Amino acid sequence: MQPEFWQQRWAHHEIGFHQPVPTPQLLAHWPALGVPAGAQVFVPLCGKSLDLAWLAGQGYRVLGVELSQIAVDEFFAEHGLVPAVERTRYGLHHRAGAIELICGDAFGLDAEALAGCAAVFDRAALIALPPDMRQRYAGTLYAQLPAGCRGLLVTLEYPQAERAGPPFSVDEAEVRALYAPHWDVARLERQPILPGQPGFVSGASRLATAAYALTRR
Ligand SMILES: C[S@@+](CC[C@H](N)C(=O)[O-])C[C@H]1O[C@@H](n2cnc3c(N)ncnc32)[C@H](O)[C@@H]1O
Repeated sequence: MQPEFWQQRWAHHEIGFHQPVPTPQLLAHWPALGVPAGAQVFVPLCGKSLDLAWLAGQGYRVLGVELSQIAVDEFFAEHGLVPAVERTRYGLHHRAGAIELICGDAFGLDAEALAGCAAVFDRAALIALPPDMRQRYAGTLYAQLPAGCRGLLVTLEYPQAERAGPPFSVDEAEVRALYAPHWDVARLERQPILPGQPGFVSGASRLATAAYALTRR
């Protein structure tokens, strides 16, 4: 997916992926990861997700990265926050309280940018990317996260031949192949859900969601 694809989606408010509540798998599984309060949590391809505010509400510092300035602006406006803004080589940083959102390309982040992150949360980020970009995302971006980092990854599975992504279907074998070089992977759950249940996946006869715990070696 080229950046223009996502910029257009935000410009036309075609954001069926945005949820009006925090991700249920985040609420269910995050506490068991044991990430200490006060730690910094990386949220790649964060949109204006309510997960950012939920994590901050649990006492974490949050570092999101998002291509769309519209998404970043709407996040702060919808939470009644006025961020301080600063430009660095990674993009435009917006900071308000415990939340920092970089408006920029996630693939431009390096180990220095992510050095302070003790955890990572991915909902609708890996599955937003086509296969070649998934390789880069897991193999290059995630490889910059420090040893000991914990992660929670939420995916969707459906017969890919039935519809084009995004979101893309990413099954367990692919998750393991993508992350195994640098991460220990444990599946936490896999549940069938009704076709069309997340409104942004239409036209699939079968649909499931899965969640994985990741630990950076
Ligand atoms: C499917 S949405 C999911 C957003 C969010 N995770 C959520 O759950 O609502 C994917 C988001 O990633 C952003 N995005 C896509 N490619 C990106 C990149 N290379 N760097 C930063 N953000 C990107 C898009 O603008 C879009 O907001």
